[in-house]
Amino acid sequence: MKNVVIIYWSGTGNTEAMATGVMDGAKSENVNVRLLNVGEAKVEDVLKADAVALGCPSMGSEQLEESEMEPFIESISDAIEGKDTALFGSYGWGNGEWMTDWQERMESYGARVIEDGFIINNEPDEDGIKKCKELGELLARA
Ligand SMILES: Cc1cc2nc3c(=O)[nH]c(=O)nc-3n(C[C@H](O)[C@H](O)[C@H](O)COP(=O)(O)O)c2cc1C
Repeated sequence: MKNVVIIYWSGTGNTEAMATGVMDGAKSENVNVRLLNVGEAKVEDVLKADAVALGCPSMGSEQLEESEMEPFIESISDAIEGKDTALFGSYGWGNGEWMTDWQERMESYGARVIEDGFIINNEPDEDGIKKCKELGELLARA
């Protein structure tokens, strides 16, 4: 059975709610799904997976969260090559630059980013959660 792993960082729960939506969508496609906070994730989790979803809000100044997510993303630069990948995250007041930069970076590592990085302003509403589920379904079928 296909293995999907969802790895995220979230400070106030918005990206975590998105991650749960992605998980629910992927689960509906009859695949193995693991949801991991980045603090408990290892490079092996990416290596073992057939498809990977990564979630992080815009932090710093249009950057990934610097203490856990940034070093983790650096650490999977080889492991992610050739993997179907979905990116998502919440933001506050910016223009989504962190996500376009992040997507370019993952593509430069050889990740097969299946859709443009999915961003939601602050807390996801019902429609936002639905879109997260759709992203999870798409990733599970990729
Ligand atoms: C320290 C800090 C820096 C932030 N920097 C940005 C930013 O550069 N651009 C932006 O759009 N939002 C920024 N935000 C807002 C967060 O992206 C937003 O609150 C998001 O919903 C947090 O997601 P989370 O609940 O998953 O932590 C920042 C928030 C914090 C706490």
